[in-house]
Amino acid sequence: MKLKFANFKMNMTASGLRSYLSAILPEIKEYEKQVAFFTPCVNLFVFRDFEGEFGIGAQNFYFEEKGAFTGEVSLSMLKELNVSLALVGHSERRQIFGESNELIGKKLSAALKAGIEPVLCIGESLEERQAGVAFEVIKSQLRLALGNVDKLKSLIIAYEPIWAIGSGNPASPEDAEKMHGFIKETVKSILESSELSVKVLYGGSVNLENAGEFLKMPNVDGLLVGGASLDPAKFAKIVKADC
Ligand code: 13P
Repeated sequence: MKLKFANFKMNMTASGLRSYLSAILPEIKEYEKQVAFFTPCVNLFVFRDFEGEFGIGAQNFYFEEKGAFTGEVSLSMLKELNVSLALVGHSERRQIFGESNELIGKKLSAALKAGIEPVLCIGESLEERQAGVAFEVIKSQLRLALGNVDKLKSLIIAYEPIWAIGSGNPASPEDAEKMHGFIKETVKSILESSELSVKVLYGGSVNLENAGEFLKMPNVDGLLVGGASLDPAKFAKIVKADC
């Protein structure tokens, strides 16, 4: 079962999300288990009015349990809203909001401890790819994020090359396949576990035309879709692209 995750980023109001879910859920009824919606925290309450087996995801949270952290949201607050997944280390948070590898590591550990499944996002820049150091950059991002993590049974990673995000210029399915294989090996070696199940999603300019090609790749365990997930009809088709 390949995963189809929608990252709405800073789009859609609560009423917009309500209309979106009313439109898409009847279309993806049989495939709900593969799907998760990552919405801004302020809209998470909308999911209370919709039943289904899809995952509810948060785009952000803070690693501390509570306290004087104005503007932040804790994992226990998310849990009360039935959130089961959370993005960690998205390149927009690294680049625009200055999230460091150290913070990302702390967020990852806090999510695991709280029982919210982190989706660790990693990816190289265009300069790094052109300089031929993409694999080293990915290895270093994984090491820094997973350095303090104890034994795990499973982990979801999203490989999102920065140059592919929102650019209309996706990685080739073959390049994604190669990188995903490398990510799986690297994670298993960092965590010293050959039994660990690692799922690697591809993200970056996924659309209706290319989704099926990515999903054909054996090491592409799913997709993390930004722009093309905002239209319910389009995202419903992406969800069914390999079915
Ligand atoms: P796009 O699909 O808009 O390129 O965004 C990808 C992404 O960042 C998903 O997290």
